[in-house]
Amino acid sequence: MPNNTQKVILFGRETPLEFLPNLSKHLGPKIYIKRDDEGGRGGGGNKLRKYERLVADALATNCDTLIIAGHYQSNASRALVGVACQFGLKSIVVCKELIPEQNSAFNKSGNALLMNLMDAEIVAIEKDDDYQIAMMEVAERIKNSGGKPYIIPFGGSNLLGALGYVDCANEIIDQFERLNTKPPDYVFVALGSGGTQAGLLAGFMKKNYKSKIIGISVLHSTETARNIVSDLTNEVINNISLDIDTAPKIIIDDKFVGEGYGVPTVEGLKAIKLLAMSEGLFLDPVYTGKAMSGLIAYIASGRITKDDTVVFIHTGGIPLLHAYYDKLFE
Ligand SMILES: Cc1ncc(COP(=O)(O)O)c(C=O)c1O
Repeated sequence: MPNNTQKVILFGRETPLEFLPNLSKHLGPKIYIKRDDEGGRGGGGNKLRKYERLVADALATNCDTLIIAGHYQSNASRALVGVACQFGLKSIVVCKELIPEQNSAFNKSGNALLMNLMDAEIVAIEKDDDYQIAMMEVAERIKNSGGKPYIIPFGGSNLLGALGYVDCANEIIDQFERLNTKPPDYVFVALGSGGTQAGLLAGFMKKNYKSKIIGISVLHSTETARNIVSDLTNEVINNISLDIDTAPKIIIDDKFVGEGYGVPTVEGLKAIKLLAMSEGLFLDPVYTGKAMSGLIAYIASGRITKDDTVVFIHTGGIPLLHAYYDKLFE
């Protein structure tokens, strides 16, 4: 069992919790944003919280090469390459074209550009190739040349990764207690590989907070995502010795995915523009824009009212804006 308390410092401070006065006035409820997009190396974002324990585990087991499966616009890969640079480790990104090409610069701009700047080693595989097999082959090559590889789980979402979002839940709760205001009724988060929502769920349960954690899926169907998040949440709950008699209430909504992962939606793009114009904050078309479009729809339908308080987790991904420049203004 890996050590769950061992962490490297990647953020170095709690991330800000900011009230959004203009958006709140426009939409009705009191809306706060948790700025996990701010700080850290490699362009930051939610993956850094996951890498705090994963990279500590890699270092504790004397690994020198981090291997991750991704695509050319992957935030997880870009952030991992940055962290590897920070710790003097090697990193290898096993890349396939997961997202239909959005424009001629798609595989060269945004996260791809940042990975290039950090001189990332990219191993390109075909769309039909299996990530796991390709990562094992890369790991074998590293071992044969005297190195020690560490394979990052998909999206950084295993127990060690998800524990990073128990930390985030603790921070949010501390921040609300300091504000001396009622706890949030809702927490909205973009849901991909599931670790972020699973950690938040366990973290809020640990403090006996009843906030509803809504995962807006940008990848899987509600059913598939629920199975992933449920298994991981239970693993985290066991690991932190949380004694509960009710199963966690897992709320997931896949209605905002649109045509699929990485394909922008009209509502997501509108949400990006709304946040930019009302608050000077930037979201992205793959994750946070779609999650914000979910929040806006929940408010419009009356599921969330003006008496509610909402925290929106800003999970990062801003470099993606550059990769989708023409979609924003077409
Ligand atoms: C910007 C952003 N938001 C949200 C997510 C989803 O987080 P998780 O994979 O933990 O569900 C990701 C994952 O890549 C991401 O890059």
